[in-house]
Amino acid sequence: MHSILVLFSLISLCLAKVDRLEIRRGHDFRYQVTTNSTQWARRVPLQRHRGIQVIDACLELEETAKCFNWNDKKGNVFTDTSRSRFYPNGTLIIYQVVEEDTGTYWIPGKTEFQTIGEDGKAMGWHNGFELVVW
Ligand SMILES: *[C@@H]1O[C@H](CO)[C@@H](O)[C@H](O)[C@H]1NC(C)=O
Ligand SMILES: *[C@@H]1O[C@H](CO)[C@@H](O)[C@H](O)[C@H]1NC(C)=O
Repeated sequence: MHSILVLFSLISLCLAKVDRLEIRRGHDFRYQVTTNSTQWARRVPLQRHRGIQVIDACLELEETAKCFNWNDKKGNVFTDTSRSRFYPNGTLIIYQVVEEDTGTYWIPGKTEFQTIGEDGKAMGWHNGFELVVW
């Protein structure tokens, strides 16, 4: 019992800075961070590929399938997931989100990063977000 309580409080500490973001299905989702990073990761329980999915940072001119799709960590591309893009400047875009994009998103290896709001101003520090598509 004691260890369960400890586990719960650890989890809630870890989730303290995770934003919960909601978006309507069919809209484009954008998320902007100031941190340089090469990859986003996500876990999306409503999808067939339940393991961790990643998308690498690609420049605008790069057109390979892995630049537009989430893939497993071995480089197998999931072409049936929502088209997405992660630019090296920190912009993550998921085009026309579907319910299956609902899940937890984070930057591998970064415990904290700073987001930028629509007005271009830096906002708080975060370590990931929960996306809810409805
Ligand atoms: C991100 O990388 C670019 C190019 O390597 C560098 O000029 C810039 O200072 C870096 N920004 C941060 C926040 O580390
Ligand atoms: C990052 O780059 C992409 C592609 O060039 C662009 O659409 C987006 O607006 C850029 N973001 C910022 C904050 O400059």
